[in-house]
Amino acid sequence: MSDLEDLKARLTAEIAGAEDEAAIEAVRVAAIGKKGSVSELLKTLGKMTPDERKTRGAAINELKTEITDAISARKAALKDAAVTARLKAETVDVTLPVRPSPSQTGRVHPVSQIVDEITAIFGDMGFAIAEGPDIESDYYNFTALNFPEGHPAREMHDTFFFQPDEKGERKVLRTHTSPVQIRTMKAQEPPIRIVAPGKTYRQDSDATHSPMFHQVEGLVIDKVTHVGHLRWTLEEFCKAFFEVDSVTMRFRPSFFPFTEPSFEVDIQCDRSGPQVKFGEGNDWMEILGCGMVHPNVLKNCGLDPDVYQGFAWGMGLDRIAMLKYGMPDLRDFFAADQRWTNHYGFRPLDIPTLFAGLSA
Ligand code: DAH
Repeated sequence: MSDLEDLKARLTAEIAGAEDEAAIEAVRVAAIGKKGSVSELLKTLGKMTPDERKTRGAAINELKTEITDAISARKAALKDAAVTARLKAETVDVTLPVRPSPSQTGRVHPVSQIVDEITAIFGDMGFAIAEGPDIESDYYNFTALNFPEGHPAREMHDTFFFQPDEKGERKVLRTHTSPVQIRTMKAQEPPIRIVAPGKTYRQDSDATHSPMFHQVEGLVIDKVTHVGHLRWTLEEFCKAFFEVDSVTMRFRPSFFPFTEPSFEVDIQCDRSGPQVKFGEGNDWMEILGCGMVHPNVLKNCGLDPDVYQGFAWGMGLDRIAMLKYGMPDLRDFFAADQRWTNHYGFRPLDIPTLFAGLSA
């Protein structure tokens, strides 16, 4: 067998043995690439005598054509095979049932639900939503709210303090949503009607207390604002929120540094059955603190107390969520247990509205 036949036999076997597109490409480079075995033979043509060129030269050219054709044919076959394999691997069975979307399987946490309900109610009454940071300065959390420096009321809140900064000031995790009152009054002109839901923090932890909990703050500032407005607003809210036609509320005198007079509000309820019922019964349940905004607080925000008055209230959200939806232990709220969320959570597309129902 001549050397050319030898080479042809070897290359033909390599071409046939190439299993994929990368392998046949390697064979191509090794045979007819710049430094390929056939290309090297072609380079010898220049030094041949005319006779040699006629016989051996023609044979080399023929070998090159045959090998080139064989490689192209194998390449095309491998490409077809690759496409066929891919189509087979990526087959989609369009007759399979569609998997439920996250909007069907996901659940809204009861606290988010309560916030949505509250903002729907107050939004309907013409209130805007306000927000403030969880990490507050001592000024917004206490001083501006008329907590005097060193006053024991500051200790009342079991505050989480940060390390003092270079100026010796300690930031706090806000102990209530009341600092949003200050931020709002400093940022906008009256009339003001806002509610501010959010996270709050105190060093407290048991079945009904968590170090992180939720409150909603309310604030109204206008030129003629009085306790009657406060009562009406809270009563309308409670009826809408507890989804009852009437509620009986009790305003007990209390103390908060930022309101004068201050009240704690109880709502009449029936605790004789397994679930608390509102709007009936012989029991009272405390649900919020409120009062008329203290003149010092108005002054701290640049408002003249002889021109403007206002009322404010603050309510814990977690406990009323527990009451409204019958969840026994607050700690489960923040345990991130999907079984709990699936059980107590709400469908994402059932957005609470006053016309379609809050919790329906
Ligand atoms: N910030 C108070 C607390 O966390 C609750 C509160 C009471 C808020 C009276 C108010 C208010 O706006 O007027 O205990």
